[in-house]
Amino acid sequence: MSHRTPLPAQWPSAARVSLIAVTTLGQAAPPTTRTDRATTHPWLRPILLANLVVEVLIVVTGGLVRLTGSGLGCPSWPQCVPGSYVPVEHQAQGFHKYIEFGNRTLTGLVSIAAIAALVAVWRWSDRRRALVLPAGLVLGGVAVQAVLGGITVRTGLNPATVAAHFLVSMTLVAAAASAYAESALPGGPRVPSVPAIVRTTAYATIALGAVVLALGTIVTGSGPHSGDADEPARFGFDPRTISWLHADAVMLFTGLVVAMVLATHLRSTSSRPRDAWRSVLLITLAQGVVGYAQYLTKLPVALVLIHMLLATLLVIGLTYGAYSLTEPGNQSD
Ligand code: HEM
Repeated sequence: MSHRTPLPAQWPSAARVSLIAVTTLGQAAPPTTRTDRATTHPWLRPILLANLVVEVLIVVTGGLVRLTGSGLGCPSWPQCVPGSYVPVEHQAQGFHKYIEFGNRTLTGLVSIAAIAALVAVWRWSDRRRALVLPAGLVLGGVAVQAVLGGITVRTGLNPATVAAHFLVSMTLVAAAASAYAESALPGGPRVPSVPAIVRTTAYATIALGAVVLALGTIVTGSGPHSGDADEPARFGFDPRTISWLHADAVMLFTGLVVAMVLATHLRSTSSRPRDAWRSVLLITLAQGVVGYAQYLTKLPVALVLIHMLLATLLVIGLTYGAYSLTEPGNQSD
């Protein structure tokens, strides 16, 4: 059964696909006889959704900081400038100080959402491990990110810490998406919705997706957008070679995603795996087009930002892909 609202036909396909991924992620599970507060408390799912949305938002604003070279707009941390937590007028960094300060402020919002999510799952889900663990991971991860952000500034935007900052964010997006997906399902046993070989292929695809993300951050760290617009610190790899390595891994990844679409079409017991992996494929194709377009047009800021956003949506799609491999089992136990 589906609770999806039809999307306007004129929407660009990537936007439609991402919305399908997120709304299907929240699709309610088949009805069961077991009462489960996680699926009925009216505040739980909106709080978990807000937690996911702010995690995505901070990736985009963080990208804006890097792409506009605003990373040192606040030259110190935790204070923006020595002696003040907020930007001051006579500060030399122009508009960069406001972008960096805005991004730091969003960290506050992310922290509040993470605390609210943990309190919500603790109170309203019978402390279900599959909800408490990812919500706890998000809260712990936000603390790690605050420290890593500080180290990034203090090391003059070293590309290794910039990459680590991005990859930890992807983990937190996956954890927030995981809590949201789990909250749509009743507790209790799960049964596979696809055969074991398909599940193994799915996990291999997700692992390769992680490699693609990591290679992407190395491409970034080797190019002009590695962090500091004036004096970029770089990994020192040849940008062309590392870009092709990244794209080669993407081709292998795309092949596996196509295999998953076919396999779930032929062998799944419900529509969830089919919808999930179709969304993953469409996001991957859109991302591939943007990837080549930005490579061939010398990395314009807008395309790089879209590439980051699509990478984040792909993480959500893959999380939902993993969730779709099982479904609520017989609840009569
Ligand atoms: C599933 C497909 C893809 C995914 C998930 C992906 C993911 C990523 C990620 C996570 C980054 C780093 C973002 C950051 O550090 O801020 C990146 C950077 C990059 N990717 Fe991809 N990518 C994909 C496809 C491609 C393709 C096909 C190309 C074509 C060559 C490409 C070219 C690039 C380039 C040039 C950068 C560096 C951008 C910069 O300097 O800011 N990507 N990618």
